[in-house]
Amino acid sequence: RKTIFSGIQPTGVLHLGNYFGAVQRWVELQETGEEVIFCIVDLHSITLPQDPKTLHSQIITMAASLVACGIDPSRAVLFQQSRVSEHAQFNWVLGCLTTMARLGHLPQYKEKSASLKEIPLGLYVYPVLQSADILLYRATHVPVGEDQRQHIQLAAHLARVFNNKFGQTFVLPRSLVYDDSIARVKSLRQPDKKMSKSETDPKSRINLADSPDEIREKFKKAVTDFTSAVYFDAENRPGVSNLMSIHRAVTGQSMEQISRECEGVNTAQYKLLVADAVIEHLRPIRLRLEQLLSDRAHLNHLLDLGADKAKTIASKTWQDVREKVGLLHK
Ligand code: TYM
Repeated sequence: RKTIFSGIQPTGVLHLGNYFGAVQRWVELQETGEEVIFCIVDLHSITLPQDPKTLHSQIITMAASLVACGIDPSRAVLFQQSRVSEHAQFNWVLGCLTTMARLGHLPQYKEKSASLKEIPLGLYVYPVLQSADILLYRATHVPVGEDQRQHIQLAAHLARVFNNKFGQTFVLPRSLVYDDSIARVKSLRQPDKKMSKSETDPKSRINLADSPDEIREKFKKAVTDFTSAVYFDAENRPGVSNLMSIHRAVTGQSMEQISRECEGVNTAQYKLLVADAVIEHLRPIRLRLEQLLSDRAHLNHLLDLGADKAKTIASKTWQDVREKVGLLHK
């Protein structure tokens, strides 16, 4: 049987990149009857400064957003990372098997640390903790966006290193990445970059909780180019092509159908067309999210149950790891 595991940082609500690159896939995988485990990675999020006054409420909002998107806590294990202490403990053991050179080469680290004068140690070991997340549940498949591919490769590498040193323990996890443009949704303001919550301009991303007016406004301001015809050319026309990818993802149409629909439409008109399609797609999610957020006690309860289920699995692996490493008598 497959074990599907993935994680997301508690950034409040999801943006369209998280949604199409990862979460929508999680919901599909949940329907396959495989074991599915989804983690709100709060320990990862504090590798960059977070406001203690809002962090917990962001965790709750992320849980609500995932449920609003279709994650069903009775079928999937949905939990908060820091409530399962084995993640941080196993991180230590894996850190002892990782070289600094390997971590320094990872693109996300290079990107995130480039603008910092003082680089926190946590940012550096971030991918080791991520490997601990994955291996603790003996995950076979990890559905993520394109940007996470190398991190999953590190997890597979560390599984191999562990097995070689201490005997067969882990299966090697594989990433599941969409092999098309939706694996990397672009920023609406800088279409050569990925859509991300760390870009300062809020108009660069669509959040799942944005109102229809906000969504329309953001698409109107989306950066395209000086050609008014609408056609797909990801390399030379990243802005328009990104809109078309989003359009395709929300309508479920093929790129040919989308292209046909766009004949005779100029980019200004097209932006509004895509905005409307996105608004329609997100409407039920936004309504469910509002409902869920009105009952915080229920959300807390879901996270309690999730933590119990996760802990049961993680503690078994951790026991096995300690025995294999020699920390615990067999
Ligand atoms: P995070 O929180 O940045 O993003 C969550 C998921 O969304 C995907 N994603 C995107 N996909 C397409 N286009 C985009 N513009 C875009 N932006 C984000 C990400 O690829 C990711 O799948 N390190 C992880 C969290 C993590 C994790 C794990 C993931 C921690 N432990 C274990 C898998 C397994 C992260 O920062 O995701």
